[in-house]
Amino acid sequence: MANYPEKVYLNGEILDAQEAKISVFDRGFLFGDGIYEVMLRIKGSFFYGAEHLQRLAKCLEKINIEFDVSCLPNTIDLLLKASNLELQDCLLYIQVTRGVAPRKHSFPNSTVPTLMLYAMPFVLPELNDKPISVVTTRDFRWHRCDIKMTSLLGNVMANDVAIKAGHYETVFYRDGKVTEASHSNIFFVKDSTVYTHPANEHILNGITREIVIELCHKNDIAVKEKAVWREDIVKMDEAFLTGTSTQIASIQKIDDHYFYQGSAPGLVTQKLQKLFLQLKNSYECEKLI
Ligand SMILES: Cc1ncc(COP(=O)(O)O)c(C=O)c1O
Repeated sequence: MANYPEKVYLNGEILDAQEAKISVFDRGFLFGDGIYEVMLRIKGSFFYGAEHLQRLAKCLEKINIEFDVSCLPNTIDLLLKASNLELQDCLLYIQVTRGVAPRKHSFPNSTVPTLMLYAMPFVLPELNDKPISVVTTRDFRWHRCDIKMTSLLGNVMANDVAIKAGHYETVFYRDGKVTEASHSNIFFVKDSTVYTHPANEHILNGITREIVIELCHKNDIAVKEKAVWREDIVKMDEAFLTGTSTQIASIQKIDDHYFYQGSAPGLVTQKLQKLFLQLKNSYECEKLI
């Protein structure tokens, strides 16, 4: 099965992917009632793995799924061994749903959460140096985009519009302000200051977003967590997207507006891309939790 993982961890068992089955009454299946995480293992360490697991724990708490993430490092070790990925760069997907219960909107009194993980080989390019084009759309999602939930329909619908029209991403705006994109965060640069939407309920606070803000602080690059008006996009000098697999991707074109021609992004974007690469190359994580 090309593009599928070989092994899946499901509720205590490691199975061949095609053998992994869940109940049709799983609330993840019926309602998208679950939380997920994606992280990358690079040269033997999960890049900001502890932060990814903390976000998973926080999101589970936000939707009242009782699940202790401290069991995960052990499970991840077992999965990597079974998948023959201990020595390879790979992507790890984790999903926790509320579990199986008769279909009813209200949270069931007691269910056992469904835990599913898989890992697949995944090698990041050193730098994401492809100039990308994006389109904008009104943010038609709900008001809890801070929750990394499995019900991604709004994001999926928006992303599909971009992909079908030959773009990389769809960028959302809400009440006139740019929020984030369908699977990445967005930053702008104006007069050498970096801008991004504040981490509130209208965006997912990306781990990569946080890393970029920290890189700015540590390297004397001015940064403001302040949203940019959609109508002001054309006045910005540079724009880029961030995400676990996107890394830092320079936006060349947004709707009909070009930030630059040719292949070289703006100077601040280039500097952050280099700093990010250095960070990846020097990163060593001691423990996942
Ligand atoms: C809606 C949304 N925003 C932002 C991000 C970027 O988050 P991270 O940097 O943690 O990958 C993602 C990643 O999946 C996302 O789905």
